[in-house]
Amino acid sequence: MNHPTMQGMAPVNAPAWVKHPKLVAWVAEIAALTKPDNIYWCDGSQEEYDRLCEQMVAAGTMKRLNPAKRKNSFLALSDPSDVARVEDRTFICSDKQEDAGPTNNWTAPAEMRQTLNGLFDGCMRGRTLYVVPFSMGPLGSPIAHIGVELSDSPYVVVNMRIMTRMGRAVYDVLGNDGEFVPCVHTVGKPLAAGEKDVPWPCNPTKYIVHFPETREIWSFGSGYGGNALLGKKCFALRIASTMGRDEGWLAEHMLILGVTSPEGKQYHVAAAFPSACGKTNFAMLIPPKTFEGWKVTTIGDDIAWIKPGKDGRLYAINPEAGYFGVAPGTSEKTNYNAMATLKENVIFTNVALTDDGDVWWEGMTKEAPAHLVDWQGKDWTPEIAKATGAKAAHPNARFTAPASQCPSIDENWDNPAGVPIDAFIFGGRRSTTVPLVTEARNWTEGVYMAATMGSETTAAAAGQQGVVRRDPFAMLPFCGYNMSDYFGHWLELGKKLEASGARLPKIYCVNWFRKDADGNFVWPGFGENMRVLSWMIDRVEGKGQGGEHVFGTTPRYEDLNWNGVEFSPAQFEQVTSIDRDAWQAELALHDALFTQLNHRLPQALAETRMALGKRLEG
Ligand code: OXD
Ligand code: MN
Repeated sequence: MNHPTMQGMAPVNAPAWVKHPKLVAWVAEIAALTKPDNIYWCDGSQEEYDRLCEQMVAAGTMKRLNPAKRKNSFLALSDPSDVARVEDRTFICSDKQEDAGPTNNWTAPAEMRQTLNGLFDGCMRGRTLYVVPFSMGPLGSPIAHIGVELSDSPYVVVNMRIMTRMGRAVYDVLGNDGEFVPCVHTVGKPLAAGEKDVPWPCNPTKYIVHFPETREIWSFGSGYGGNALLGKKCFALRIASTMGRDEGWLAEHMLILGVTSPEGKQYHVAAAFPSACGKTNFAMLIPPKTFEGWKVTTIGDDIAWIKPGKDGRLYAINPEAGYFGVAPGTSEKTNYNAMATLKENVIFTNVALTDDGDVWWEGMTKEAPAHLVDWQGKDWTPEIAKATGAKAAHPNARFTAPASQCPSIDENWDNPAGVPIDAFIFGGRRSTTVPLVTEARNWTEGVYMAATMGSETTAAAAGQQGVVRRDPFAMLPFCGYNMSDYFGHWLELGKKLEASGARLPKIYCVNWFRKDADGNFVWPGFGENMRVLSWMIDRVEGKGQGGEHVFGTTPRYEDLNWNGVEFSPAQFEQVTSIDRDAWQAELALHDALFTQLNHRLPQALAETRMALGKRLEG
């Protein structure tokens, strides 16, 4: 199917398997704007993946790792300025500013389109425009949706092939008029005739733009992670959250895991934590040996799409097909399953290279290798690190790995029907104040807990680290619309499900990160989180015991299973105590959040705040 092209323009040359005239016309339109030298329609094949990887090795973008160490795997080092999501350059351009709300950057759509038209004009000169069709979720699932990303980055193409269901089969689902979310991405570095490319092209000017009403995404200037792999944060969270608001479902920053009890009954839990707070570790948890008969299986590690089923229960899919996980801190000890997932077919970005052609990052082994090439391509030794503080891997270094390679993958991870959710967990990284685990008394109080969540910032986003910021539902950087309306949507959905006679999932608030006076974590975390998880499952079954406190129900020391771990009642007190003064200060921060979100804030949340304040005083 050839589209008429203007003179001097790359021919669109859509293959016969693309039968969607609107899509072809859109590709022609974007090509006319961006002026690439070539247009290439990705088929998603292994041959194509291998060819693009080879091409990037030749261009210096990627290095092939030693196949004896890590088969079919690569290392990419980014430009040192392009290492994380750029939240201050991320925009929600709804028609009305109040629909983006006070937590999002907003520019009027017409003004933003004018800016983008200027930036994108000729931005792909000297490059190839890749057409990347992808399904978020199992192909054809009623919970899944389709996107097409046009990108001038082969690095994006190969990452999208791991992270999504990418390739020709998507066009079969689309047919000749199926809906798709159009995503346009450029690294923003056109090449003049004869100009030599750099290994990691990008632009100091960056724009990550969403138009929720037309469900469009435009990304300029970055080749990294969530800025460039537009199926992930841009589509699966920001645009999908607005689709969910309009259509009655949820797009959440949540892992999904299965827990099987010794009786063989399986439960499913969806858990929201801010970036780099251990979602991948929790999703791949291995229960302690003393939890004989318990099994944890992985459905997703970052994003959940959740739709109400006919039976009134909530069904979740993982819209992704791979893990884009934080490498530093990942080891056989902290996440055995992740390390096993990373044995082959992996793209590493910004980790260090060992002398024998493998990868290394801080926390992978107790002792660092004697010599490495660091993420900036410089020599690195433990001595240099000691003297200069240089990190071998960037703290936001990542791995891109196929989900199917995870040893703990759930047999239903790819099931188009999704899995029914029994409990939601919300957790932040808080060194003080917030107790280990609390069960909300009801849906509204659970929504309140999630809405007021706070967390210490990490390297996943550019900006200052380690400061507490409110991160409602771990969605602060990812909610594509007004946060107050988002709370309202959760409350409404709960009401609707309850009215249908369904039993709502329980809601928990957790904090694995309390520290002692010396700044050490008190709770052992990782596999030991199973002790908390199994208590939750007991509660879902109506069996687990606990005590009521100001915010809900928490286990007493004797309510958790301590077999196989030394954890004293005094330590338990350190991770569960509720300090009234700290909580007065915390509630004042909730007030500050609610003042910021005052416009359209659901009354139920203000009322819950009042009731909690009274209980705390009483
Ligand atoms: C991620 C993030 O990449 O949350 O998942 O930053
Ligand atoms: Mn995430």
